Amino acid sequence: MKVIVLENAAQIGEELGKFYVDFINENPSCVLGLATGATPVPTYNYITKAYADGKVSFKNVSTFNLDEYCDLPKDNKNSYYTFMFQNLFSHVDIDPANVGFLDGNVTDYDAESKRYAEAIKAKGGIDVQLLGIGHNGHIAFNEPADEFTDEAFRVTLSESTINANSIYFDDAPMPRYAMTMGIGSIMRSKKIVLVATGAGKAQAIKGMIEGEVTPQLPASILQNHDDVVVYLDKDAASLLTK
Ligand code: PGA
Repeated sequence: MKVIVLENAAQIGEELGKFYVDFINENPSCVLGLATGATPVPTYNYITKAYADGKVSFKNVSTFNLDEYCDLPKDNKNSYYTFMFQNLFSHVDIDPANVGFLDGNVTDYDAESKRYAEAIKAKGGIDVQLLGIGHNGHIAFNEPADEFTDEAFRVTLSESTINANSIYFDDAPMPRYAMTMGIGSIMRSKKIVLVATGAGKAQAIKGMIEGEVTPQLPASILQNHDDVVVYLDKDAASLLTK
């Protein structure tokens, strides 16, 4: 794992934003695995500004998002689909047909998982997967568990995740389930970039980088991938000793 420690979230947004602009310019038909949450927003802001300045185009880019809530309409203000259009897709020239999302409103979760795996495979796999990390070490919605998962599945969200995300659900109860890419699907990405900011993530980051590989801290599996770059601010890096 390569670890880059920067001063703050704004600096990470700029560095990582530049990485994406360069990557897309060098690989105009690339396949990006994208993440939601507060952490990637500065990066998305950098990219949308670069697009407005004519420095990058999403015309031939394809994307797959990590996860989506179950039992929440796609156009709900809190769906991850809405989040991605508000924070990135509506501001760039991506073809909506090239936007890949898990459907959290299906009844056959296994069929949905197969559909997503096939769709990713048909595009040649994910070139760069962007990840955040949960306070409990989750990546996408792979919560601490007894085993590492493989393809996408329907997950029961943990109390830690519900506590962290319920701030966004001011007028309705937060969903208890989500469809998430599995650990195997994430690990098959050619390159992985993980971002964490704030002291609240420091413990999970320490476990991910310096602890043992265990499904109880799902992000620790990234130690077994040969192209992972971790962007941290000083607070998220504060417990690292090595
Ligand atoms: P956050 O979420 O960026 O909102 O902290 C990250 C995650 O839960 O993976």
